Amino acid sequence: MSSDPSNNPINILLVGAGGREHALALAISKSPKLGTLYATGMSNPGIAKLAQPVDVDYESEKFYRLNQFCDSHNIELVVIGPEDPLAEGWSDKLAKKSDGSSRMIFGPSQRGAQLEADKANAKQIMRAASIPTAEGKVFKDADHADEYMKTRDEPYVVKATGLAKGKGVIVPSTMDQAIDAIDQILRKKAFGDAGKEILIEEKLQGTEVSVLALLDGQNILVLPPCQDHKRLMNNDEGPNTGGMGAFCPSGTLTDELSHQIESEILVPTADALRRDEIDFKGVLYAGIMLTPGGPKVLEFNVRFGDPECQPLLTLLESDAIELLTATASGKLDKIDVRFSSDHAICIVLAAEGYPENPRKGDVITGVDDAEQIPGVTVYHAGTKMTKGDLYTNGGRVLSITATGKTREQAREAAYKACDLIEFKGKQLRTDIAANNPVHA
Ligand code: AMP
Ligand code: GLY
Repeated sequence: MSSDPSNNPINILLVGAGGREHALALAISKSPKLGTLYATGMSNPGIAKLAQPVDVDYESEKFYRLNQFCDSHNIELVVIGPEDPLAEGWSDKLAKKSDGSSRMIFGPSQRGAQLEADKANAKQIMRAASIPTAEGKVFKDADHADEYMKTRDEPYVVKATGLAKGKGVIVPSTMDQAIDAIDQILRKKAFGDAGKEILIEEKLQGTEVSVLALLDGQNILVLPPCQDHKRLMNNDEGPNTGGMGAFCPSGTLTDELSHQIESEILVPTADALRRDEIDFKGVLYAGIMLTPGGPKVLEFNVRFGDPECQPLLTLLESDAIELLTATASGKLDKIDVRFSSDHAICIVLAAEGYPENPRKGDVITGVDDAEQIPGVTVYHAGTKMTKGDLYTNGGRVLSITATGKTREQAREAAYKACDLIEFKGKQLRTDIAANNPVHA
């Protein structure tokens, strides 16, 4: 039996090392219910300040050691941030303690993670449950894919079906680009094994929103809507990235649209998972296009979005541990979840060369000054601390998050903070949460 988290401080293991996980670590640390927070992502200086390390080697076939670590450190809840460990089945592997009792896991089972890790599988589930999505077809053979593409009236979107760090989707403007995308993914293996199969689907027009909901196996809790900006450059130009910024609430969704998304997309997806006996306790993230024909699913993710998580959790007023444990134990209907009515915005500072070939090792200055601005939190993502100095260490370097009474106030604070932070080759979009963002 798990101890009752409402009474006893609980020890938690957090998996992941990005800006999203720093936001999770900070929200968890604020809870009086926390015993000790352990984290796998101690290379992230933000997480390292808040957590204790997992000091065992659990690589590949030694994974059982992580379970032993959880046993010996009395870990009652594991929070899994990124999609890779979910797709590798960490939820399933960590869910049983050595005495046979269960451990709470925030994050779906391996089968549940297929909703994100295999876009062909997600398409099948959507079709079977009549969930509105783009028309599409799956191909392994590049010549067949070329033939199909050429019969379309306009270029279709080309997607690697596997996990490609948010970069496996190509939205071509011309037929030549579409044919080249097929070539890159299927013949030239630009995304390796993640692209051994592609999904070619109709290009949807409209405004994009991300709707995130918590699923606990029984209940659904829809979170405030966020909007992210996936393209590298202003006006949604340049290549797709993991996300260059986000804001919450998005303001694009009327109550009517929210209800429509819940009843036509989220509830049928949760029902389909239950029908297939797929254990899913965590975040269901629906990337949605608001088309003239109604909301349609672009993609599902099975974890918090990065950077959407940063503004979202910054607005969470309720206890984060209560929220995570309620999700992991099927008790979402028993808790009261509150978010601030403020606005939050997150701007990603990326390294030179991101997304193709980010440069590492540039000195970062100004983080402490940026954090002095009221309402600003600087979440670390691709950084590392060496001898007291901070360096770039990945594509998306920092997530600068600010809150304000209005979106404009939040933007102003966030951009002021971005101006104070310097590193060589810093890239950022200056139109995050701008009044009328253009969407691809
Ligand atoms: P995904 O990872 O599937 O969400 O795709 C990344 C981005 O590509 C989305 O956020 C959209 O901006 C764009 N995208 C994906 N699928 C489509 C589609 N069918 N039509 C238009 N844009 C799309
Ligand atoms: N921001 C998009 C994602 O996390 O996939």
